[in-house]
Amino acid sequence: MNDRTNQESQRHGEKPVKRREMSRRQFLSYTLGGAGAFMGAGMIVPMVRFAVDPVLQPKSQADWVKVVEEAQVTEVPKSFKFKVHQVDGWYESDPELEAWIAKGKDGKVFALNPTCKHLGCTVNWNGSPEHKDEYYCPCHGAHYTADGKNLAVAPLPLDEYEVKIEQGFVYLGQLGPNKRV
Ligand code: FES
Repeated sequence: MNDRTNQESQRHGEKPVKRREMSRRQFLSYTLGGAGAFMGAGMIVPMVRFAVDPVLQPKSQADWVKVVEEAQVTEVPKSFKFKVHQVDGWYESDPELEAWIAKGKDGKVFALNPTCKHLGCTVNWNGSPEHKDEYYCPCHGAHYTADGKNLAVAPLPLDEYEVKIEQGFVYLGQLGPNKRV
């Protein structure tokens, strides 16, 4: 109701009616504020998702990696190199790993990690003439059986990869504690 209507009401002895009207300033601040908040959310939400997503995503199980033809594996352990794809937050890499792969007395293929369980040097099969048919670590003399059992210095057996055979090829999976010894 405008001023004229109010004046007419007063003339007729009625109480003027109070009307709540939005001022131009309020209208502008609501409209611009709403639009600003909408645009701000549109910019911030993707940024937050980018920052948080890799951390929230569950770490995927390592994929199986095809390493070698089964026919090349014998009872004498041989070293094979292979690459794995790793995603750590935003950082992706393809480090090269090594496994000593052999056939056990049961004819099953198994694969050991060459990282010495003493202080992390790399062991070698038949690395010392004094420890024939064993893995030997040149750093402090730890040695292990063909199954990776620790015989001296190292406190634990060599770690073992999960192994599967598919269409004549050896695939390696997760690395874990030795289950052979
Ligand atoms: S790191 Fe292998 S014996 Fe010490």
